[in-house]
Amino acid sequence: MKTYRIAVLSGDGIGPEVIAQAVRVLEAVGERFAIRFALDALPVGAAGVRAANNPLPPETRVAVTRSDAVLLGAVGDPSLDTAPRELKPETGLLALRKLLNVYANLRPVALHPALAACSPLKPNRLRGVDLLVVRELTGGLYYGEPRGRNGTRAVNTLTYTTAEIERIARVAFEAARPRRRLVTSVDKANVLEVSQLWRETVTAVARAFPDVRLEHSYVDTAAMRLVSDPASLDVVLTENMFGDILSDEAAVLAGSLGLLPSASLGDGPGLFEPVHGSAPPLAGRDVANPLGAIATVGLLLRHGLHLPEAADAVDQAVAAALEAGARTEDIAHAGEQIIGTKEMGARIVELVLAEALEGLS
Ligand code: IPM
Ligand code: MN
Repeated sequence: MKTYRIAVLSGDGIGPEVIAQAVRVLEAVGERFAIRFALDALPVGAAGVRAANNPLPPETRVAVTRSDAVLLGAVGDPSLDTAPRELKPETGLLALRKLLNVYANLRPVALHPALAACSPLKPNRLRGVDLLVVRELTGGLYYGEPRGRNGTRAVNTLTYTTAEIERIARVAFEAARPRRRLVTSVDKANVLEVSQLWRETVTAVARAFPDVRLEHSYVDTAAMRLVSDPASLDVVLTENMFGDILSDEAAVLAGSLGLLPSASLGDGPGLFEPVHGSAPPLAGRDVANPLGAIATVGLLLRHGLHLPEAADAVDQAVAAALEAGARTEDIAHAGEQIIGTKEMGARIVELVLAEALEGLS
């Protein structure tokens, strides 16, 4: 039996709580499909600062590069908001993305029918929403040099090279093929040179994908379309900062940020994390929604370990739990019974194993 090595970086705030449930689900999948997972728990973010005065400690760096996939909770801690940049939890996450060279961040947003009432949009606008944000993750303003502050002046730099744009564009076109074959590339080419290079390069890459339709959209228009006509979007291809903003906006469509998973892929081990953050006010109260982290296990199995059947089992269990009315606080409506983080995890585990029993009968 092959053993998969998974580095588990639960991080800060609600990270450890949701990852504990995600790990239970991963273990249930292992039991059902006879797959062995060797889990290696390591600190990152504020937890790294506490353990080793480093948001990405050396032992974590070594372990992730030797793993088959990395499962991450969330980083962020208000007590470090004013810390120097090298001690900020977010710096650890950015360093981790760079270390693994996971340049392609996939953030799927699909609507679960049972949760339509959770979305702030009217039901007629939500019909058919199923989109995938493909966000460039290792370039742009987050990493550009020069950067820094000098008294009353601060600078960040937006840079992209043709090669960086080509590789992320190819991911988007490939991803569109089994979907509705539409790529909407988002930029600000009416103002920025970087966006002009982006648009030119994406157009050139598109020639190798004649079966996929390409359209270009300015980021302001795309932001509007995400709420006015989200069903018209399929794959949304964009740079790092625009993708950060648009993916939170898109997450609202699904009803709660707590539901959404993400996969960050490069040429080595992938990094898998829910889209939500560390949510300090929710931490330690057993109220956080673990479904984003659990759906992230689905992406880890699918894109990180290439185990599509195991991934399907997780996705089906999440859908079945929602169908059956399992609701954490963030997705509950008046009169619905609210369950905690752990109970939601337990229901998913039960469903993953129950599907296995069905398979035997
Ligand atoms: C995300 C987060 C991160 C980002 C932060 C925590 C650095 O918002 O994954 O979307 O901006 O990439
Ligand atoms: Mn974000």
